[in-house]
Amino acid sequence: LEQGCLTIVVLGASGDLAKKKTFPALYHLFEQGFLQSGEVHIVGYARTNLSDDGLRGRIRAYLKGASEEHVSEFLQLIKYVSGSYDSGEGFEKLNKEISDYEMSNNSGSSRRLFYLALPPSVYPSVCKMIRTYCMSPTSRFGWTRVIVEKPFGRDLDSAEELSSQLGELFEEDQLYRIDHYLGKELVQNLLVLRFANRLFLPLWNRDNVDNIQIVFREDFGTDGRGGYFDQYGIIRDIIQNHLLQVFCLVAMEKPVSLKPEHIRDEKVKVLQSVNPIKDEEVVLGQYQGYKDDPTVPDDSNTPTFASIVLRVHNERWEGVPFILKAGKALNSRKAEIRVQFKDVPGDIFKCKKQGRNEFVIRLQPSEAMYMKLTVKKPGLEMATEQSELDLSYGMRYQDVKIPEAYERLILDTIRGDQQHFVRRDELKAAWQIFTPLLHDIDAGKLKAVSYKPGSRGPKEADELSEKVGYMQTHGYIWIPPTLA
Ligand code: BG6
Repeated sequence: LEQGCLTIVVLGASGDLAKKKTFPALYHLFEQGFLQSGEVHIVGYARTNLSDDGLRGRIRAYLKGASEEHVSEFLQLIKYVSGSYDSGEGFEKLNKEISDYEMSNNSGSSRRLFYLALPPSVYPSVCKMIRTYCMSPTSRFGWTRVIVEKPFGRDLDSAEELSSQLGELFEEDQLYRIDHYLGKELVQNLLVLRFANRLFLPLWNRDNVDNIQIVFREDFGTDGRGGYFDQYGIIRDIIQNHLLQVFCLVAMEKPVSLKPEHIRDEKVKVLQSVNPIKDEEVVLGQYQGYKDDPTVPDDSNTPTFASIVLRVHNERWEGVPFILKAGKALNSRKAEIRVQFKDVPGDIFKCKKQGRNEFVIRLQPSEAMYMKLTVKKPGLEMATEQSELDLSYGMRYQDVKIPEAYERLILDTIRGDQQHFVRRDELKAAWQIFTPLLHDIDAGKLKAVSYKPGSRGPKEADELSEKVGYMQTHGYIWIPPTLA
């Protein structure tokens, strides 16, 4: 059911995630006509004592640059209810707010979306409260859906426990485990790219690909989030979820169809084909100054950088290393997938070492795909050089505004499409891969080496990439083209 009265409840409404991501995403959906006044009602819920206008003021501060008229209209859709996360009283109030709106709306329908912009420690109690007090009544047409944010647990056991607690309260088709990387334009493009282009089909395998890197870099540190971050570290914060989801889409087999279940079946299969991670194929780093944050313990061994080689035991990928690398406080901010092809056999241009072909998918910033090629250097000499075939979105799609990941994923939830959300068995398979390593790090068996903030990260990581086969092309750099 896609029409009728829709209530979006943002729990944790006064928190960072809600202000920075959830409400702005809702605003953009509203601005584009996906959330209509008269049909949609948004309720913020949190413990803080705030008036409706108090919340609206906070949200407004994050909508700078948007049309004042639209913003005011949008803010009028928002109400605020305060209450705790574990007592019935607040949730009864919340339910009354929703029900009153549904009654006045008169459409006979009740679509209720709960967005948990909250720490996972309160998920079980909040979900229980929703289940007890706030479900869409069966007397009306509609549904109840719940969006939950990572981290879904700290390891396999805690994740499974959380899953079974939530599983007792909601059906799998009511739970939307969000991983915002799945909402990024170029991540969503991976399926199309791989399976709608004849060009790639015969190349995408161990016969042609030497190694694949999936890299996330940020040029800032934990910036006041040290206390949170220190309990998780870069593997739980980025690699086990964001990069692993990208890995799945790069490495999985062709799904039977585009049905969400078919796609997720393939993701689970490839995750289950990943071999145990070897200690010697892991490099951990921690940037100097990380422990200056007063909320980080002085003896913290939490990695802010990790490079981990995954090996897939199947017919397509046996022997091809997938290097998953993520780091904070590095020299640049970007996320990309780098598929490096093997050397040309019987090369006749031997006088100068040729670079390898590389297909790079730049997720952000400056979304692009480019294929690194060796070409004849233009001019009278018969010389070669590295160049590229370049599809830069900023140039090719000048009039298109690329939607924010959260915008897209919230819309998917309203439409009931779970394709870009993490299924329970997928989550389990993801934790199975990293849990032994995480336990070893937590027990201090593997140490993070220190690196300078603003650098490339530990040199050991570059050495590892080289050891498993990655070959850097010196003297070539791709510069995102800009409009004149
Ligand atoms: C979040 C992590 O999930 O993703 C943050 O918790 C990280 O540490 C962020 O900064 C990165 O997201 P994006 O979309 O800016 O790449």
